[in-house]
Amino acid sequence: MEKVRNYTLKIWRQPNAQSKGGLKTYEVKDISTGSSFLEMLDILNEELSEKGEDPIYFDHDCREGICGMCSLFINGRPHGPEEEITVCQLHMRTFANGSTITIEPWRAKAFPVIKDLVVDRTAFDRIIQAGGYISVNTGAVQDANAIPISKENSDLAMDAASCIGCGACVAACKNASAMLFVSAKISQLALLPQGHVERKKRALAMVDQMDKEGFGACTNTGACSAECPKGIDLSNIARLNREYFIAGVSS
Ligand code: SF4
Ligand code: FES
Repeated sequence: MEKVRNYTLKIWRQPNAQSKGGLKTYEVKDISTGSSFLEMLDILNEELSEKGEDPIYFDHDCREGICGMCSLFINGRPHGPEEEITVCQLHMRTFANGSTITIEPWRAKAFPVIKDLVVDRTAFDRIIQAGGYISVNTGAVQDANAIPISKENSDLAMDAASCIGCGACVAACKNASAMLFVSAKISQLALLPQGHVERKKRALAMVDQMDKEGFGACTNTGACSAECPKGIDLSNIARLNREYFIAGVSS
C-alpha cells in the first residue's frame, strides 16, 4: 500500500449565514495514509494560509471521538463512510488514491451554517437546558448496593449516555428529526432511579423545546441510528415516546 495519496476535495464554502454557499475544488497531494481526516484539512489550511487565502472553517475539539464537534457530511454521509466512528477517527487510508471527496456541513433548518463547515448546534444545548437538573442529594458516597439497579438497566443507561451530541442523527434524517438525540438524553436518566423524580417534567420540557427549535417529526426510517457514531439504538425513541405519553396523561 502506498504511504501517501493525492485527493481532489470539493468543499462547501460559505462566508456567513446570510450568503449563498457553494462547493469549491482543492487538490491535496502527498497526504499520509495514516493522517486523520482532520489532519488532512489542517494541511490544506496551512497551504491556504501560506497563499494568503481564507482557511476552511471546521469544528473540532477532542479529536478522540468524545466531544461531538467534528460534524461533517463526507461523500453524502454524516461522519463519512466508516461505521460508528466520528470524523476525527476517520483516516485517509479509507479513501482511494486519486479519489474525489465531497465535504459539506450538516444540513438542517435547526442547525444554520455559521461559516463554511461550521454549523450552530446550540439548539441541542437548549434542549438539554430545558430538561433541567436531577434531584440527587450530595454528601458522602453511598454503598454501591444501596440503590439496587438491574444490570440490564444500567447497561442500557450507559449505552444511551454514550451519545456525544454530534447531530449526525439530525443530518442523516430526511425530516431533520432530533428524536434519537433527545431519546438518548431522556433514556440515560429515565432508566435509573436517580432520574425518576423529574422524569415527567423532563420529557415534556425537552420534547417541547425540540419542537420549538424546528426539528422535524420522526417517521421511523432508522437513518439516524444507522449513521450514529455511537450506535444509539432506535429502542430509545420508543422509550421516549412512552415517557412522553405517560407524562402527558398523568400530569
Ligand atoms: S444520537 Fe448519535 S448521532 Fe445523534 S447526537 Fe447522539 S451520538 Fe450523535
Ligand atoms: S473532535 Fe471531538 S469527537 Fe471529533
